[in-house]
Parts: sequence; structure tokens; C-alpha cells
Amino acid sequence: MSRLAFIGAGRLGQVLARAMAAQGEAVVAVSSRNQDAAEALALRIPGCQVMTQEQALQAADLVFLTVSDDAIEPLARALPWRSGQAVVHCSGATELTALAAAGLRGATVGGFHPLQIFSDPENAAQLLAGSAVAIEAEPPLREELLRLAALLGMQPLQLPPGTRAAYHAAASFSASFILSLLDEAVQIWAGVGLPQQQALQALLPLARGTLQAAEKRGLAGALSGPISRGDAGVVAGHLQTLDSLGAEHGAFYRELSRRQLQLARASGRLDEQALQRLEALLGH
Ligand SMILES: NC(=O)c1ccc[n+]([C@@H]2O[C@H](COP(=O)([O-])OP(=O)(O)OC[C@H]3O[C@@H](n4cnc5c(N)ncnc54)[C@H](OP(=O)(O)O)[C@@H]3O)[C@@H](O)[C@H]2O)c1
Repeated sequence: MSRLAFIGAGRLGQVLARAMAAQGEAVVAVSSRNQDAAEALALRIPGCQVMTQEQALQAADLVFLTVSDDAIEPLARALPWRSGQAVVHCSGATELTALAAAGLRGATVGGFHPLQIFSDPENAAQLLAGSAVAIEAEPPLREELLRLAALLGMQPLQLPPGTRAAYHAAASFSASFILSLLDEAVQIWAGVGLPQQQALQALLPLARGTLQAAEKRGLAGALSGPISRGDAGVVAGHLQTLDSLGAEHGAFYRELSRRQLQLARASGRLDEQALQRLEALLGH
């Protein structure tokens, strides 16, 4: 078992440090620019002390850099790493090359990116179990990170080097872009007189039902709505109304519908004629 240190007592640092300590891991040091945050975190973890960054490096075998993405490379360059030590960042987008300076000083480098959003540390710990975590490291650090992932009940994804921009950009479609889709619905409803306060309450159960269906039946199997049925008349009506509300609404709907047509094709429920009718309606 490694002695762990966390540099950065922000949202993710707090969640990971507490969750690992709760599973019996030795979280021995926390260091943060914000001293109050470091002290509050250390108080919640028996045996954990607030230290300077240099002291934290001395005290630990495995250091988590849970700082903002832009701070990772400068810290990796500035700190006195030693061989036999490992340093891991938790960014989805930042390549491991950001830790190259620590590697040159003999430390083993890695990535441990929990694929989840942690806006409120108080209830975030329960989100860890069942979430995926992208792990990038060479053995034996890889095995240690896989062990920690299993301890937290997380599902490991092993990321090949150099793939983080694609991995992270794509993940946005399952995260904040869902909010953009809901925002489009709320705006259109507001335009036809449905109160914004009620809109989200009405739309969220629909979104949850769709995700539950996807969990059970996969993306193509969960598809519902006019495109899945080949109801070209309904789609034509949607397009006419959305274009009249503003060209951007129609364009957004067309783009998403064209992508949905690929799922409809994969579902095998529509014949070629129905698919072509929809294709002609939606354009290229
Ligand atoms: N939050 C999430 O949902 C989430 C999920 C997955 C991965 N991550 C990753 O986790 C990492 C941390 O994100 P976060 O959301 O926890 O950010 P955060 O809440 O803003 O916390 C960042 C921490 O880093 C410290 N920091 C910033 N610049 C620093 C510097 N130059 N030197 C030393 N400390 C510095 C901050 O100190 P101050 O308080 O003094 O500013 C703060 O304690 C990022 O790489 C992020 O991509 C976050």
C-alpha cells in the first residue's frame, strides 16, 4: 500500500482523498494554495497532515496533483521529485507529457481521470462507485491505480497515450452537452409560452427515462420518436415550426436528426424506403 499525498484541495482533491482514506488507504499529506481548504480536508482524515508541497513529496510514495489543468505542468517542473516516487494527474484533457519533468527526475508518471462531475464534495463520494476512471500509466503504477480504482468501486478504462483530446471532447456529449440539449428544449417551450420554471421539471423525467432505456437496450434499441417510426410527416411539421422560430433551431434539429437516422438504420426497424424519405427531408 502506498502513502498518498494530495496537492490541491479543490473539489476533486477533497472527494478522492476522503474516499481513499475511507477505504483504509494511508492519505498522509495534503497541500493546497488555499490553507483553509487544506486544513479542513486534513481534519476529516485521520493521520493526514497539512504540509508544504515539498514536504508532501517527501512524505508520500504516490502524489495526486489535483490542481487545475493549467497548473499541472508548472508544478511538475517546479517540484523536487525523486526516483521511486509516482505522480498522477487527474485531468481528462491533459496529456501525460505535462508530467515529463517529474519523469526526468526519476518519478513514474500517470493519469487517473474519474469520468464524473464533482460539483459538491459532500455528496460526490457516492458518485465514485460505479463511475468509470480513465487510467494511463506503465506497470507497476498501472497496477496500483487499478487497485485504487477497484477499491473505490470504479470501472477502469485504459487510455492509449496521445488520445486524451478525443477521449475528453467526446465525453462532453454525455456531460455538459446534455445541458445544451435541455436548454434548447426549455428555450423553445418558453417561446411558445410554457413557463421556464416548470420546463426543467417536466423534461428531466423524460431525459432520465431515455437514459434508463439506453442502459437496458443500448442506443439503437432505446430509440423512440418520429424518426424511429419513420413518421416523415411529423418530422416535416417539426422542421417547419422550428425554422419559423429561428433558423438556428431548425439547423440544430436537422443536425441531430441526421445523426439519429444512423441509429434508426442500425436498429433495423425501418425499411430502406422510409430511411430515404427521412434522409431527403433532413438534407445532407
Ligand atoms: N471537479 C470535477 O468534476 C472533476 C472531474 C474529473 C477530473 N477533474 C480534474 O481534477 C483536477 C482538479 O479539478 P477541480 O475541479 O478539483 O478544481 P478546483 O476545485 O478548482 O480545485 C483546484 C485546486 O488546485 C489548486 N491550484 C490551482 N492552481 C494552483 C497552483 N498553481 N498551485 C497550487 N495549487 C493550485 C486550487 O487552489 P486554490 O483553491 O487556492 O485556487 C484548488 O485547491 C483538474 O485537473 C480537473 O480537470 C475534475
